[in-house]
Amino acid sequence: MQACLSLRGITKCFGSFSALNHISLDVQPGEVLALLGENGAGKSTLMNIIYGLYQPTAGQILLNGQPVTFSSPLAAISHGIGMVHQHFMLVPAFTVAENVAIGQGKARLTLRLDQIAKELQQLAARYHLQVDPFARVADLPVGLQQQVEILKALHHGAKILILDEPTGVLTPKEITGLIQTVRSLAAQGTSVIFISHKLNEVLEISDRIVVLRQGQCVGEVSPQGTTPGDLARMMVGRDVSFQPDRQASPRGEAILVMDSVRAINDRGVAALQDISLAVHAGEIVGIAGVDGNGQTELAEIVTGLRLLTAGEVVIAGENLTNQTPLDFINQKVGHVPEDRKKNGSIKGFSLWETAVMKNHGNFPFSHSGILNHEKMIDHTQKLVRQYDVRMATIHQSAHSLSGGNLQKLILAREITATPKFIVVMHPTRGLDVGAIEFVHSQLLEARRQGAAILLISSELEEVMSLADRILILYEGKIVGQLLPDEYDPNHIGLLMAGAREAG
Ligand SMILES: Nc1ncnc2c1ncn2[C@@H]1O[C@H](COP(=O)(O)OP(=O)(O)O)[C@@H](O)[C@H]1O
Ligand SMILES: [Mg+2]
Repeated sequence: MQACLSLRGITKCFGSFSALNHISLDVQPGEVLALLGENGAGKSTLMNIIYGLYQPTAGQILLNGQPVTFSSPLAAISHGIGMVHQHFMLVPAFTVAENVAIGQGKARLTLRLDQIAKELQQLAARYHLQVDPFARVADLPVGLQQQVEILKALHHGAKILILDEPTGVLTPKEITGLIQTVRSLAAQGTSVIFISHKLNEVLEISDRIVVLRQGQCVGEVSPQGTTPGDLARMMVGRDVSFQPDRQASPRGEAILVMDSVRAINDRGVAALQDISLAVHAGEIVGIAGVDGNGQTELAEIVTGLRLLTAGEVVIAGENLTNQTPLDFINQKVGHVPEDRKKNGSIKGFSLWETAVMKNHGNFPFSHSGILNHEKMIDHTQKLVRQYDVRMATIHQSAHSLSGGNLQKLILAREITATPKFIVVMHPTRGLDVGAIEFVHSQLLEARRQGAAILLISSELEEVMSLADRILILYEGKIVGQLLPDEYDPNHIGLLMAGAREAG
């Protein structure tokens, strides 16, 4: 069969850094091709080249055997390429149908919206999607917004659909739905290029798996007879342990104490209702729950980013109720936020500025009011080496790092600041298996050194393998507490879905 898409010797340089080195790859019609690789391996860069966002430095793209060049995404779209990015590109105030209409160039703007809506309904039925064309995008949960992106690409005539880490933001149920959609797209002739760090998912969904490492193709396998361990080894170049080594560790005094805390969310609705909990030195307390049950507000409450409407927050004996974020930082509170770009870093800051930004006023970075530039640079070099942050230079903007590498940089900054208490939210979301192994070992090391750690994660396996205790958060309330010998994914799953604990 003739490949519908062929890449021949694609190379991409950013300045003197080569992000992609001579990549050749074929995609067959109706095939699901999974693309695997560590954070920074070049997956998104390669996809952006196919989608016309970047021009290759060298190499060629062929569609059905014919050489093509895409000067822009519009050109790629008109050749049947669709792409759903890690960050969605929708207009929140518009309806689904309006979002589809605006991307379609002049010729189609005249199409009536209800005609588009009808076509979207047909596409949705055909590919197991559930979107209401008249819903406002802002009112849709993330999983449905992603479906809008997929529908938009299909409505624009995509025959090759690129999904760049689509499952990172989805709940387990939404992931099952997406897998079904991808399979039915392939069965009806659309090719899908699927990027994910979740190896089981990749094995389940794909017909073929291609692995990139440091901008090069290092292998290709079929999912049959391949294990997650095999894939991890190909990606990272060594064996990876999926189970962190959590030794028993003595529990110290209570560091974070929350007493009867209430808070409202941004829409003025109760987000936390009567939360009382303690996290002790040398202890990891895991919060399990479906996203949106108060996790974000909880993390904000314990870092001074949100006001309480009732109750108290005490950290290391200091009552910090409704104090400023700076008061929390001064009390050695660390924070690995959910949104690394919005809360963990500042647009326009370089990597080294990001690495020292909460600490720049302290010795050795600042002495008698004078900033020591050299010390900051040295410190950053050490952090990026230790945490294996893949980058061109520490002077590049932190936001130009691939998502996983920005996450590693923020984790490095927060954990090495030896916090008394640290809240980490989705610490490994978007990270590759090698990086996950490393981050888990660093969290356990911080615990060994006596940090009190509140781990908020929607990855149940992560919470179960790291936490000394799990609290289940449902609709802003703690509805269950479990100790390690009681960890059972089915039971926890039920509690997360709102089932009451028996007895
Ligand atoms: N616009 C850019 N300028 C400089 N470097 C970039 C740019 N885009 C990507 N890179 C670098 O290229 C490499 C590959 O990044 P990316 O394709 O995002 O990786 P992946 O998607 O596999 O995690 C990274 O080292 C990243 O820092
Ligand atoms: Mg990427």
